[in-house]
Amino acid sequence: MSDKTQRIRQSEIDRQMRFCDEIREHLLAHSDHQPLAYTQTYGCQQNVADSQRIMGMLREMGCGFTQDPYGADIIVVNTCAIRENAEKKVFGVIGQLVHVKEKNPDTVICLCGCMAQQEVVAKKVKNSYRHVDLVFGPQALWRFPELLYEVYSQRRRVFSIQDEHGSITEGMPVVRESGVKAWVSIMYGCNNFCSYCIVPYVRGRERSREPEDILSEVRALVEDGFKEITLLGQNVNSYGKDLDRPMDFADLLSEIDQIPGEYLIRFMTSHPKDAGEKLFDTMARCGHVAKQLHLPVQSGSSRVLKAMNRKYTRESYLEKVRYAKSVMPDLVLTSDIIVGFPGETEAEAMETLSLIEEVRYDALFTFIFSPRPGTPAAQMADPVSRAEKQVWFERIVDAQNRISAELHREYVGRTVRVLVDGESGDMAWPLSSRTHGGRLVHLKGDAALVGRYVDVRVVDSNTWALFGEV
Ligand code: 5AD
Ligand code: SF4
Repeated sequence: MSDKTQRIRQSEIDRQMRFCDEIREHLLAHSDHQPLAYTQTYGCQQNVADSQRIMGMLREMGCGFTQDPYGADIIVVNTCAIRENAEKKVFGVIGQLVHVKEKNPDTVICLCGCMAQQEVVAKKVKNSYRHVDLVFGPQALWRFPELLYEVYSQRRRVFSIQDEHGSITEGMPVVRESGVKAWVSIMYGCNNFCSYCIVPYVRGRERSREPEDILSEVRALVEDGFKEITLLGQNVNSYGKDLDRPMDFADLLSEIDQIPGEYLIRFMTSHPKDAGEKLFDTMARCGHVAKQLHLPVQSGSSRVLKAMNRKYTRESYLEKVRYAKSVMPDLVLTSDIIVGFPGETEAEAMETLSLIEEVRYDALFTFIFSPRPGTPAAQMADPVSRAEKQVWFERIVDAQNRISAELHREYVGRTVRVLVDGESGDMAWPLSSRTHGGRLVHLKGDAALVGRYVDVRVVDSNTWALFGEV
């Protein structure tokens, strides 16, 4: 298989759209109501973005959307494989769907996403979850109409999980659930093979969209009134390496920043080995780019980082953070941590604790190591008990909660600019909003403000959020 990214031709996309037409006609011929689809999404923002594409295709099939699986003609569960817990939850959910199938035997149940790309999962579904009709991985996403058509026309279960050539598809329909915030994938896949991570096995090799395609998508979103656009990739900092005319992520950000309008650009995720001074200088210079950086460190121990195959050290990471903060004094910095990597000692876990004390992240996503079958870390000796890891985990979480509360308290009394992104359902603080740095602000104000930027005075705070008045 060559490394060259395969770009799906327009004729192929047109062919998929014809399958949508066929399915629409089939559904209308077999029922007296508008067909309805129920979708459920687990995992990261990339999955949310993928689900919006799936919904786009479902809409082309004539479907409306329902929150009730029992009222649906088509059910799609988009899954995550990053940790064992995520998989257990999904098996629980698909187990429950057997009751839907018993009641409505014509409902077609589809399983997609990262879990579905794994052979072991497909086998388990094939044998033990016989009510699931269609299983396909993220790499076959663009062929969803064709696969679903096979289910309908051949009245058989379809499994499409072969390791496909990683591809890029432009011009597929999309349903954006909010008119304020949008996700734009700029690249797919990952080449890093961190030793604990399943992603490179299920999402394939890195491949970048052409800058022109990204720019025209962002431009259209801004023209449609979207205010916050998040660029997505497993590691956005390796954007462009595979393009015919190579371009790096910082250059892409600079070009997007030229698009006129009132909007903010966010991005995730950055790998510390590839994020450097050029990126931080570009972020500092570009007015549309949020001063927010999610820079997962995973561990504060250089020995553990090496075992994780992360390709940076504690010192080189801290150096980058120092530089980023020096050019962006109000930078909001967040990170991911894995506690209890195989062979990690208590002293090494405490190095992670000391790193978070030194960096003072605004927020942290902390996980206990979960062995993923097929990854190198799953083969490593892991002598520390779950209970002991839990103790380390709690010490890290407690420290971070204290730091987050301290940093949030510094906002009280200040005026900050926020984007009001929705209603919260809470009587006391009816609106929810985000600062430019991405901090959550519960807000007193009128629902007419949704979708607008406003200046608010921060009146209170806790570990998780700020509270403000317009
Ligand atoms: N176990 C625990 N956490 C993991 N992550 C990725 N793989 C694993 C695993 N096997 C975490 C990392 C990553 C985040 C998305 O999930 O911290 O940055
Ligand atoms: Fe997984 Fe590492 Fe790739 Fe992130 S960079 S998706 S942690 S392999």
